Amino acid sequence: MRIVSGIQPTGNLHLGNYLGAIRNWVAMQEDAAATGGQCLYFLADLHAISMPHVPADLAANTREMVAALVACGIDPDRSVLFNQAQVPQHSEMQWLLNGTARMGWLNRMTQWKDKAGKNREGQSVALFTYPVLQAADVLIYQATHVPVGEDQKQHLELARDIAQKFNNDFCPEDAPLFTLPDPFIPPEAARIMSLRDGSSKMSKSDPSDMSRINMTDDADTIMQKIKKAKTDPEPLPGDKAGLEGRPEAANLVGIYAVMAGVSVDNVLAQFGGEGFGKFKPALGELLVEKLAPINTRFLELREDREALDAILRKGAEKARALAIPTLEKTYDALGLVRG
Ligand code: TYM
Repeated sequence: MRIVSGIQPTGNLHLGNYLGAIRNWVAMQEDAAATGGQCLYFLADLHAISMPHVPADLAANTREMVAALVACGIDPDRSVLFNQAQVPQHSEMQWLLNGTARMGWLNRMTQWKDKAGKNREGQSVALFTYPVLQAADVLIYQATHVPVGEDQKQHLELARDIAQKFNNDFCPEDAPLFTLPDPFIPPEAARIMSLRDGSSKMSKSDPSDMSRINMTDDADTIMQKIKKAKTDPEPLPGDKAGLEGRPEAANLVGIYAVMAGVSVDNVLAQFGGEGFGKFKPALGELLVEKLAPINTRFLELREDREALDAILRKGAEKARALAIPTLEKTYDALGLVRG
């Protein structure tokens, strides 16, 4: 098993990232240790320049995100932890795959449509070609599994399409170059929603900080955000079917279930019939209890800039060594002479 995944260092790690992706990164790191597999996790800083950004913030956020990932349980001695900018093979691979990706495929990406909105002409070329870099990120390591939240599924399907077309167009039938990666999407927390609007996902780019729980929020802030979370006036139902048509309630109950490691029906067996006045403080306390150790560790780690840079340097060195063989084969397959 070769497990590869990335996260953009564009702000704080939030509960959606943690429950949708990072928690599984950590679990897969443990599985890989037991089965002889390998995990590569990276900060997608090259992706982050597809949107307007402040360079000093990107640098600071990159280091903060390393501290956050290590605090969540990613062990840089067992997993390869790095940032894309120190592994230029990702960008080279993207260019090589640009010859295979089709405009029509990229035009269909919902993230492109959402982010560009009505102003497509005004967007950076990077925002449009972003999914090709994402394909390069996983194909260059021959990833077998990619743990992500639901919103990244379409990008991974595109990576598979690019791999398949490249294999068909440039490789002998019995010797395909690229492994087709499988997305690994946790069914229970694939899509954590905003605390202010049950129809949009929890996101770093939401202008309201009240819409998300950041992994760096202190206990008071977490309690406050949960208390203010949007809900409806009804008490909680006794079973899962009763959450239908109640997206805010479903989101909060879902978060409780995953954080407590129990099923949604279990949570409702406990809280069914109760109002949010009782449920919200219980959820807030559970979050505070589970996130406190991560928070403490994060605050310690973020102070040591040299240690964080050393983690990235070491990770990048390992990543480059793993990336080069497939990159060289890709140049060869395309007939590009390398001397
Ligand atoms: P990013 O930085 O937006 O998010 C990182 C991971 O968190 C998941 N996620 C969520 N899961 C559940 N509920 C939510 N509300 C939520 N918000 C975010 C995302 O699905 C993701 O798994 N393009 C990617 C980064 C990337 C990548 C890659 C991922 C670049 N190259 C290669 C995998 C493989 C992104 O912007 O994720």
